[in-house]
Amino acid sequence: MRTDVVRLGRLSGERTGEMMHFLSSMRVDRCIADADILVDIAHVMMLDKQKINDHEITKQILAALLELHDEGIPEEVFDDQLEDVHAGIEALIIEALGADVGGRMHMGRSRNDEVATCIRIKLREDLLKQMAALLKVREVLIALSDQHRETAMPGFTHMQHAQPTTLAHHLLAYEQAFSRDFDRLRDAYVRVNQCPLGAAAFASTGYPINRDLTARLLGFDSLVTNTMDAVATRDFALETLADLTILMANVSRLCEELVIWSSSFVKFVTLDDAFCSTSSIMPQKKNPDTAEIMRAKTGSVFGAYTGALITVKGLPMSYNRDLQELTPNLWRGMRDVKESLRLLIEMLSSATFDTARMKEEAGKGYSTATELADTLVRNFGLPFRTAHNIVGRAVQKESLSLETLEEAAKDLNVGISLVGKGLTQQQINEALDVNYSIALRKAPGGPAPFATKIASEERKKQLDADSALIDERLARLSKAKEDMIADARRLVA
Ligand code: ARG
Repeated sequence: MRTDVVRLGRLSGERTGEMMHFLSSMRVDRCIADADILVDIAHVMMLDKQKINDHEITKQILAALLELHDEGIPEEVFDDQLEDVHAGIEALIIEALGADVGGRMHMGRSRNDEVATCIRIKLREDLLKQMAALLKVREVLIALSDQHRETAMPGFTHMQHAQPTTLAHHLLAYEQAFSRDFDRLRDAYVRVNQCPLGAAAFASTGYPINRDLTARLLGFDSLVTNTMDAVATRDFALETLADLTILMANVSRLCEELVIWSSSFVKFVTLDDAFCSTSSIMPQKKNPDTAEIMRAKTGSVFGAYTGALITVKGLPMSYNRDLQELTPNLWRGMRDVKESLRLLIEMLSSATFDTARMKEEAGKGYSTATELADTLVRNFGLPFRTAHNIVGRAVQKESLSLETLEEAAKDLNVGISLVGKGLTQQQINEALDVNYSIALRKAPGGPAPFATKIASEERKKQLDADSALIDERLARLSKAKEDMIADARRLVA
C-alpha cells in the first residue's frame, strides 16, 4: 500500500481498512482523475512562471504529469486506502521523483481548492454534452411537429376533452419547455466555469501565485474571487441539479403522456417494441417500461438535488469534509439525465402516432363548443357570457343543434330567437368542425398549421443558435486544453 503522504507528519493511530474505505472518496474520484492531472499541470506551470519553483524541478514534475496525461493513470493510484485521488497522484509523483522534487508540486495550494477546481472542470464539459443531447430532443420534437402540422387531436384540460388542437402544437409545447431547460443550463454554465484555484485551504497563500494564469490555462472564464467562498461553495452544483430536476420534471410529463397515449383505451401512439417489456404471466402485454422508468428518474434526480442541498445546509465556512459527500449526488444526477435523454431521443423518433385515432377523438366531448359560442358572438352580437350559457345549456340537452340552441336561449330568457336572427344549421356545423376551429387559432403560438409552421421556423433558428453556442464553448475548452498541454511539453523539452 502507498504511504499516505498527507498524514505522515501529523497523525499516527491505526486505521482499519473499513475506516479508510468509509472516509475515502476514491471510488467517486475516478470521475475527476483526468481533471486532477490538468489542475496539477496548470498549477506547476504557474509555480514555474512565478519563480516559486525552480525550473529544473518544474521540468521533472511536468514530465511525470504529462506521462500520466498521455499514458493514463495507473490503477494503483485508485487505492481506497488513501483519502482521495489528489493524495493518490501526489504520492505517485513523490514516489517517482523523490520527496525533494515531487514534494514541491503541492506548494501554495490545498486539496480544498484542488477538488473544487476538478469538479468544475469535469462538470462544465459534461454539462455541454448534456445540453447537446437536449438539443437533439428538441430537434426530434420539431421534426415530428413538421410531419404533424395537420394532425388534429383533442387537447385536454383537467384530463377532459377541451378543445381540438394539433399534434404539432402539442409537441412544440414540449420543445418550448425543453428550450427553457436548455437556457437554465446555459446560464448555470457561466457560474460553473469559474476557477477556485489559488484559494488554497481558504485564505489563499503567501506565495506570489497568479490566479488569473491558472484560470486561463484551464479554460475558465473567470475566478471565484473570494477565496473562502471559492472552497466553501457548491452552489454551482446545486444550481445544476435544480435545473436538471426541472428538466426531468418536463421529461416525466412527456413520458406520462406516452404512457397514457399508448394505453389500450387511448391508443394515440405505438412505442417501438425495443422500449417496451412484456409480462411474465400475461402473454399479450406490451408495457411502456422505458417511459415509466424515465418518469421515475425524476425522483432519483430530485433525490440527488435534495441530498446535495441538505449536505450544505447549515455548514459553516469554509471547507468541511461533508462536501465530499455532496459530489456523488452531482454525478448521479448528471448520469441519470444523460441516460434518460439518450433514450428519449430514440423513443420519440421511433414512435408511431395513430393520426386516425387522434382525429377520431379530436371533436369528442363537444370540444368545438367554444367556437360555436364565439360564432354566436360574431354573428349575432351576443355578449360572450350569454353565448357561453346558451351553448352550455344546449350541451346539457345532449346535442348541439338549431333546436337545442333555440330551446336553451328560451330557457335562459335571453330575449332573442337565434333562428329568428338567422342562425342556420350550416353555421352550426361549420363552427363545430374540428379543422375550422383549429384553422381559426392562428395567433402566435396557436395550433393552426399556419401558426405552427411559423413556430417551427422560429424554433429551428433558436436551435441553430443554441447549437452554435455549444460548439463554441466546447471548442474553447478543448483549445485551452491543447494549448496548455503544448506549453507544458515545450517547458519540458
Ligand atoms: N476528497 C475531498 C473532497 O472530495 C478532497 C478535499 C479534501 N480536503 C480535506 N481538507 N480533507 O472534498
